[in-house]
Amino acid sequence: MYKRIAIITGASSGIGKAFLELLAHDNGEFFKTPFDEIWAVARRADVLNELASSVGTDKIVPVAADLSSDSGIKTIEEKLGSEKPDVALLINSAGMGIKGQVTEKSDEALANTISINCSALSRMMRITAPFMKADGKEKAKIINIGSSAGFLPQPGFACYAASKSYVISFSRAMSVELKPKGIDVMVVCPGPVATDFQRRATEGKEADFSGWRKNFVIDPVKLSRASLKASVRGRKILVYPFSQKLLHLASKIVPTSWILAFVGKAVN
Ligand SMILES: NC(=O)c1ccc[n+]([C@@H]2O[C@H](COP(=O)([O-])OP(=O)(O)OC[C@H]3O[C@@H](n4cnc5c(N)ncnc54)[C@H](OP(=O)(O)O)[C@@H]3O)[C@@H](O)[C@H]2O)c1
Repeated sequence: MYKRIAIITGASSGIGKAFLELLAHDNGEFFKTPFDEIWAVARRADVLNELASSVGTDKIVPVAADLSSDSGIKTIEEKLGSEKPDVALLINSAGMGIKGQVTEKSDEALANTISINCSALSRMMRITAPFMKADGKEKAKIINIGSSAGFLPQPGFACYAASKSYVISFSRAMSVELKPKGIDVMVVCPGPVATDFQRRATEGKEADFSGWRKNFVIDPVKLSRASLKASVRGRKILVYPFSQKLLHLASKIVPTSWILAFVGKAVN
């Protein structure tokens, strides 16, 4: 008998951690059949170990891996190959951003952003899909965390926005490729979420979510709950919350050159 597992990348903080905590205590709210294990993947082994002991279940399996490296991907590939689990759920939440003009950023920062946001997510799907066994009752699920930043080019946040366009495009195409295998793929496109992300993206500057801005920032637990529910319902894309749906609509109907001209005035 195969053990039924979930894999969450970026599980050490923010949105990934919120998914982990919800799924660790899921009593059928999201998935009818419980998971035997939840593999929590990120680089910081100490944080993952602390999380595994504090979350109140022995299902959490910390897996320390830098997914932007070949060796990190190999760690997961070899663990899958040796344990041969049934992966019922993969959540790709690991990611990073870099704010500022691209020419002022290091080559390493640019390469790491593309690597973790695009390459790692794609490779995780490729190595995991063969271990997803659709049983006719519950389909296997993949949830990719994109961003509303991916709807449009964003001067001042160019590499990140382009990487999230990739996530949206790749996820939508993969939802068709993987459909015959009984695997549902959904991409989540949130606006700003209250996590460490903004501080990391600005190399230490705390995000200002005071005043009017607080109406636009999302709680990571609310986002994770809405994402799991949408995934179980078989949705292909979740744009969250409502304010981001307006941005999504605008990105489809307003010419990109107009938006860039407007945004360009703010960043140059
Ligand atoms: N927060 C927002 O405003 C926002 C909005 C839209 C979309 N998103 C997206 O949501 C996802 C999660 O971000 P978050 O807000 O939860 O940010 P976060 O709190 O900074 O979490 C990022 C996670 O990714 C992991 N990670 C980063 N690089 C990694 C690597 N090379 N290998 C393995 N794990 C790596 C980090 O763990 P370690 O440092 O331990 O490796 C951490 O667990 C990202 O894809 C982000 O683009 C965020």
